[in-house]
Amino acid sequence: MDKIKINGGRQLNGKIFISGAKNAALPLICASLLTDETVTLTNMPMLSDIKAMNALLEQLGTQIDVFDDFVDGHETKTYSYRTKEATSLVAPYDYVRKMRASYYVLGPLLARYGHVEVSLPGGCAIGARPMDIHLSALEQMGAKIEIKNGYIVADIQGRLQGANIIFHTASVGATCNIMMAATLAEGITKIENAAKEPEIGDLAELLIAMGAKISGIGTSNLVIEGVKKLHGAAHKVIADRIEAGSYAVAAAMTHGRIELINAQADTLASPIKILRDCGVKVEEKENSLVVDATQAHLVGQDVMTDYYPGFPTDLQAQFMALMMIAEGASMVTETIWENRFMHVPELLRMGANINVHGHASAIVRGVKKLSAAPVMATDLRASFALVLAGLVAEGETTVNRVYHLDRGYEHLEEKLKAVGADIRRVKEDDEE
Ligand code: UD1
Repeated sequence: MDKIKINGGRQLNGKIFISGAKNAALPLICASLLTDETVTLTNMPMLSDIKAMNALLEQLGTQIDVFDDFVDGHETKTYSYRTKEATSLVAPYDYVRKMRASYYVLGPLLARYGHVEVSLPGGCAIGARPMDIHLSALEQMGAKIEIKNGYIVADIQGRLQGANIIFHTASVGATCNIMMAATLAEGITKIENAAKEPEIGDLAELLIAMGAKISGIGTSNLVIEGVKKLHGAAHKVIADRIEAGSYAVAAAMTHGRIELINAQADTLASPIKILRDCGVKVEEKENSLVVDATQAHLVGQDVMTDYYPGFPTDLQAQFMALMMIAEGASMVTETIWENRFMHVPELLRMGANINVHGHASAIVRGVKKLSAAPVMATDLRASFALVLAGLVAEGETTVNRVYHLDRGYEHLEEKLKAVGADIRRVKEDDEE
């Protein structure tokens, strides 16, 4: 398995291009299943999760073409998806096991074909990840759902029916899934307590370009008026706010200055506020965000995750890494996932002072220095927290299980090297 080696202690300065958002791209890809025409997505990130979703769609009968492209002078990929006729309506266990977001095929395939079978994703490192909200909403829209041999088997005679649905939790996945399903339903679907994450707005934008009728975007109340057919469209994926927030922390922790090209400040209000409260200068430009910690004396701040526009759970581990070296004590509280402090034992091995209380909160007391160690994490964002710790630790840190990082950080080593980090990937074959 590949490893990443980092020699800490370098100040990071320069520019980093923020890629298209993984968590927007995944549902956007699945929205293409709603039409027999071509859906083209530009500014797509090259990530293993995108490859996994593409493999799943190819297995369903989607024709996928990829083109090299440029966004603001940076190399990116454009993908086109065409599902003239699905050749399979089954998302097998082997695909869903590798990437939980495979459940995004559920809503589109059921709405278009009246039948779908999706393996239940099961739990994962950060929590149980149930699907009750997705399934109950589809049932309210008339679907018959059974769990058979570990698979969700969903059927509907004719079209799904519009319904008034209240989510017990503002689930991102369920909001995307039900919004996609409702675009082809008969009548009006209202979703109350919908999630408001920017990735949902991005999906709604594509669906509207495909002919869907959606209002209430960016609010907790979505209204979708079903149409009989959707058509092809082209769409540019929004910038990845989690990637931007992650590199913002890299600038802060190394007392550097990084301009995050393409980052959208309006999607990062809560993390930006905490960075500023910590003593970091953050300048919002039209098409970038400049994070300047060259003069900063970092002061610890409390961080509590919440649904958007609250502080994102996907930046919790990275901000905990920041608080590790900030002055004073900070309370980090996780409210979205029940098991999202697995980075803590690894950070402790690098000299951090963190006390976890139950599953939900941790006290982080700032330390003056960290020391390098071989570390590994069990999820994507936790792995980035270890990279951050490696960037400031004394000595050479080895981050194992790099496949987690490859799921969500495009060109990680190249981007960090370009701003001055001493970082390299050691391939399995050239183990030292
Ligand atoms: C998405 C993101 C993930 C992020 C999460 C929260 C993608 C591919 N992943 O995950 O990175 O951490 O949003 O911002 O976009 N829940 C239920 N029943 C359900 C569904 C969810 O109880 O049917 C609960 C979950 O257990 C969790 C909370 O709702 O406690 C939020 O989950 P959800 O928003 O659905 O997360 P995902 O869409 O899976």
